[in-house]
Amino acid sequence: MSAIAEDKNNEIFITGSKYLMPTYSRLPVVFTKAKMQYLWDANGRKYTDFIAGYGCLNVGHSNREVICAIKKQVENIIQPSNVYYNVPQVRLAEKLCEITGFGSKVFFANSGTEAVEGAVKLARKYSKEKFGNNRYKIISFNKSFHGRTMGALSATAQEEKQRVYQPLLDGFDYADINDIKSVKDKIDNNTCAVIIEPIQGEGGINVSDIEFMKNLKSLCLENKILLIFDEVQTGFARTGKMFAFKNYGIVPDILVLAKSLGGGMPLGAIVSNDEVSSVFTPGSHGSTFGGNAASCAAGIAVIDYLIKNRLADRAFNLGKYFVSKLARLKIQNSIIKDIRGMGLMIGMELYEPVAAEIVNAALSDKFVINRVSPSILRFLPTLVISKRNIDSLIKWLAANLKKY
Ligand SMILES: Cc1ncc(COP(=O)(O)O)c(C=O)c1O
Repeated sequence: MSAIAEDKNNEIFITGSKYLMPTYSRLPVVFTKAKMQYLWDANGRKYTDFIAGYGCLNVGHSNREVICAIKKQVENIIQPSNVYYNVPQVRLAEKLCEITGFGSKVFFANSGTEAVEGAVKLARKYSKEKFGNNRYKIISFNKSFHGRTMGALSATAQEEKQRVYQPLLDGFDYADINDIKSVKDKIDNNTCAVIIEPIQGEGGINVSDIEFMKNLKSLCLENKILLIFDEVQTGFARTGKMFAFKNYGIVPDILVLAKSLGGGMPLGAIVSNDEVSSVFTPGSHGSTFGGNAASCAAGIAVIDYLIKNRLADRAFNLGKYFVSKLARLKIQNSIIKDIRGMGLMIGMELYEPVAAEIVNAALSDKFVINRVSPSILRFLPTLVISKRNIDSLIKWLAANLKKY
């Protein structure tokens, strides 16, 4: 905290602490400018970003093509209301169906948690209409994170996040990833869907293995249960493919998207196949701002940029490079317990609960990194990051991890 006492970040930090509800442990820096993989604070000091707005800037901060698309759109119309079609929303829906390969219709929300709410409603409506009123139960996974609103929080199997908000929504049960028996044990006649993050982000970068995922898909098919993939964090080339489900050779029934979809603008989406999406009829669900023209224009620019610049391949290759460097660091540092992830979604687990101290020390040295628990660091950079940026962070980690 002392480091900010004399600088321009301080006034905003103090006023923010006074007027904003303290729902976040805010770090002592105020970013006032950003470009691709770099951030600048109120004093003009430059930082390299390894968290990308918690994974919502795969195409980089203030990406030129995203800015142009937004500017052009807001000059014309921002949001005509969802009782009318707006052009970017229609074009983006068409694009999402195309790039997911299985999607036939899309619903737009403003955030990840809202998209999860929509997916829960869609799954329940589908199952009730098809199989009867008892089919409402949803299985999610221990350590999952699906959002903060009450439905998504009910699917978020983290006791400390749920405890004070009890009672939550009825009809959620939790299994363990990579343990198909634990899922089988939870399935009963009331089960309508399973919701899973292919790689748990907030829960510690826990990767589901291919065999488990294939078995999960078969189990869902056998029991006529919908499979929902929450790809809010893993989507849009993050894991080396446009969507993480493509790494597993299976297809979900419902795909939940947000974060990087909007290139920094608030935007979420549910994509589903024809059979499932057909149960949403006028009045089933809605949102005033969901799929507004400005956010959707950004979304189109994001997808075009990802494809044009082959950022999925880049995430795959740079991810391999990053992990190999971290693995070498592990050999030299006994504090490192595990390195895991996929593409540019990487976790480093430590034997000691010193992740917060490391995040703060890195920030002082102009590296923005993140922790998901007292002992797990998370690297979720923009996909435009360079090998040189990675080398600089590795050099910093090599010099500093020794202190812990
Ligand atoms: C997998 C996953 N689902 C849902 C959410 C919630 O998204 P939002 O913060 O946009 O509501 C998050 C946010 O971190 C997430 O990682």
